[in-house]
Amino acid sequence: MTRLLRSRSRRSDLMRQISSAFLPFAAAFVLTTALAATAQNDGGQDSHPKLPAGEGRDVMIRVCSQCHAPEQAADQQLDKAGWKDLVDQMASKGADATDAEFDRIVEYLATAFPVAK
Ligand code: HEC
Repeated sequence: MTRLLRSRSRRSDLMRQISSAFLPFAAAFVLTTALAATAQNDGGQDSHPKLPAGEGRDVMIRVCSQCHAPEQAADQQLDKAGWKDLVDQMASKGADATDAEFDRIVEYLATAFPVAK
């Protein structure tokens, strides 16, 4: 009887040790997740506040950051043909992406930075 009790209490000590060892990790995980969610609640604006949210934004940032800040684009306002020309120029300078990616970038830019009315 005594033996059984002792072994049970030893097991709960172990559980307590495991859970207190795990607690910092659990806390860190919750914190990281919360921070990530906060960053996304910015509308995905993170470190590029001049680039509005939109389809193709990620690929644009990735491709157009290869040589200069992607914000270069935020100074221009072009129609779709104009953006296509500009993206073609960047491609001829060596921008590295597939045709499908360049198309998505043109779509994004034409929506995010249209001709001023
Ligand atoms: C291979 C390097 C490279 C990549 C990748 C690149 N660019 Fe450029 N970009 C340049 C260089 C170099 C200039 C400097 C101006 C020039 O030579 O006309 C420039 C200039 C610009 C300008 C300013 C043009 C002007 O007339 O003032 C814009 C806007 C621009 N880039 C947009 C983009 C966009 C959008 C992308 C993504 C599709 C992109 N760039 C990707 C090299 C690159």
